[in-house]
Amino acid sequence: MKVIVTGGTGYIGSHTIVDLMQNGFEVVCIDNLMRSKEYALSGIEKITGTKPVFHYIDLCNKDATFDVISGHKDAVGIIHFAALKSVGESVEQPLLYYHNNVDSLLNILAAVKEFDIPNFVFSSSCSVYGNADELPVTEHTLMQKAESPYAHTKQIGEDIIRNFSKVHSSQHILLRYFNPIGAHPSSFIGEIPIDKPNNLVPYITQTAIGKMQQLTVFGDDYETRDGSCIRDYIHVCDIAHAHTLALQHLLHKENESNIEVFNLGTGMGVSVLEVIEAFEKVSGQKLNYTIGPRRAGDVVAVYADNTKAEVRLGWKCQYSLEDAMLSAWNWELKMRELGL
Ligand code: NAD
Ligand code: UD1
Repeated sequence: MKVIVTGGTGYIGSHTIVDLMQNGFEVVCIDNLMRSKEYALSGIEKITGTKPVFHYIDLCNKDATFDVISGHKDAVGIIHFAALKSVGESVEQPLLYYHNNVDSLLNILAAVKEFDIPNFVFSSSCSVYGNADELPVTEHTLMQKAESPYAHTKQIGEDIIRNFSKVHSSQHILLRYFNPIGAHPSSFIGEIPIDKPNNLVPYITQTAIGKMQQLTVFGDDYETRDGSCIRDYIHVCDIAHAHTLALQHLLHKENESNIEVFNLGTGMGVSVLEVIEAFEKVSGQKLNYTIGPRRAGDVVAVYADNTKAEVRLGWKCQYSLEDAMLSAWNWELKMRELGL
């Protein structure tokens, strides 16, 4: 069975492609490499023995999108990862984020309609909850104001798919990821930050290896147990496997409606300082860090109630925070070896 994966050379997309292939799916990957490297395709091949078919196009280009999808009308589904994802960059360049994340989604949905692709899975984010009223957040927790243009593009994306699902027969799943971290245990794929890393864990590993001089912890004066922000850090391979299960859930017609939402987190809130501690423990490295001011667009604390995904998808996290930090460190060492 053929699946189209957009943003497939990116961080979560590449891990998901491996999981899909290892579960018998044939994968077609689409990306414009604006935030990833073609190396991911070789990494996937090293793990699975097969290189997925790759189309290098910008999904903001509707003609190019239709051209590619028309060649894969037999696909059983599309998993749509392609988007820009940096909270800080979205605050500085809101139009870039609205343009890229919304236009690409509109084009891919138009292709779903045109070519009757039966199933659609969307990468959403816990950032849609904003500063939530209750913790842990369930799929029913009321969404607050988006704290950044990036988060707003995910709220808009969910609304667009919800409205689309009212008039189109395709089946849809929205997956709200919390904070994916770590890398494949083989160290053949992982996150390859383009330029300066934005996310915490690549910043930590790059500081430890000497690419970055020092990590700044963005604020230690929040109302949390140690003053730093709380997030739900989840191994990227656990996130990846949830996509395979989501697709199987749709293919087996186990969905309750034609649009379902799932939180993908571990259910555990962890502070920035605790992440640093876990890294130091598993890597044996002392991290050079300092405390700095709060970052614009950050929410104070968010972690998931993941019961729905566990019950309805039969999903369970396999990896601990320590496993994830160790795999991230091994991947950083591997990137040095590969010259990435
Ligand atoms: P990533 O940047 O590694 O991958 C995204 C990929 O999409 C990149 O390879 C990029 O080149 C591609 N892309 C972007 N715009 C495109 C376009 N117009 N046409 C074709 N390709 C395009 O990011 P990721 O961490 O793998 O995230 C994947 C998805 O998950 C994104 O939608 C992101 O918003 C969402 N998400 C990520 C996180 C996270 O912390 N990593 C958390 C929640 C949600
Ligand atoms: C956000 C979104 C997430 C999203 C992701 C994509 C929220 C709650 N989460 O993750 O859904 O899709 O962006 O990038 O909005 N930190 C530091 N120093 C650093 C980097 C980060 O202290 O150099 C801290 C941040 O303040 C934050 C935590 O580490 O508290 C995690 O940050 P990051 O990895 O950037 O992810 P989020 O912003 O939580």
